[in-house]
Amino acid sequence: MSIIALLPAAGSGSRMGAAMPKQYLPLCGKTVMEHTVAALHAVPEIDLVAVVVSPDDTRWGELDWGGFDRLKVLRCGGDSRAASVCNGLEALRAEGFDAQSWVLVHDAARPCVSPDLVSGMIAALKDDPVGGILAVPVADTLKAADASQRIAATRPRDGLWQAQTPQMFRLQPLHDALVSGMGPDITDEASAIEKTGQSPKLIHGSPWNLKVTYPQDLHLASLILASASH
Ligand code: C5P
Repeated sequence: MSIIALLPAAGSGSRMGAAMPKQYLPLCGKTVMEHTVAALHAVPEIDLVAVVVSPDDTRWGELDWGGFDRLKVLRCGGDSRAASVCNGLEALRAEGFDAQSWVLVHDAARPCVSPDLVSGMIAALKDDPVGGILAVPVADTLKAADASQRIAATRPRDGLWQAQTPQMFRLQPLHDALVSGMGPDITDEASAIEKTGQSPKLIHGSPWNLKVTYPQDLHLASLILASASH
């Protein structure tokens, strides 16, 4: 049974306010995308790293992917993250991958994920009936705001986790859950699976596995990549 990493990389990264999508921004001498691909490609259990880019992407082909023998680009990005993932899953099925293959969906914009963390996740979930996600327990006190940005309530953080990626589910069930649940509230794969009545497992992730969203995240990411122990 195959284990595939699927990297949605078709976003425009508008919150970054940069001239190019955040996955192509420079980071420690490479692009964000190259770090992410290298991290997933270094996971021995993963048979294929498949990257979903936008059909009109011109930057992917400008990078040097020599040496990555288990890498494939899928030019089928959609107009939302969920649509990009869904299209990528359909492309994998069309290429003959088994419906029950495990797929680890990982944001191209999370370049600091450690291969060991991903290997541990695969070991923890490969016999699970549902699948699961990396996540970290919420550390900060949570405030709900009213319309004038005043505190309306303090929410207990007990039992709350912050979702990360990879998110690991079986190919066809994940595809079907995304198709049936498609909408603005589906911001990750787990939320689509939850809508089918199933409960994905939470696997301890790492605070270093940050998503590059705002300009300051690039600085943090460069510090994390420079440290050997992430
Ligand atoms: O915008 P956000 O941070 O949620 O994006 C997370 C990941 O999803 C990024 O790697 C981005 O490129 C990808 N994405 C995508 N297709 C979209 C929007 C986002 O593949 N339409």
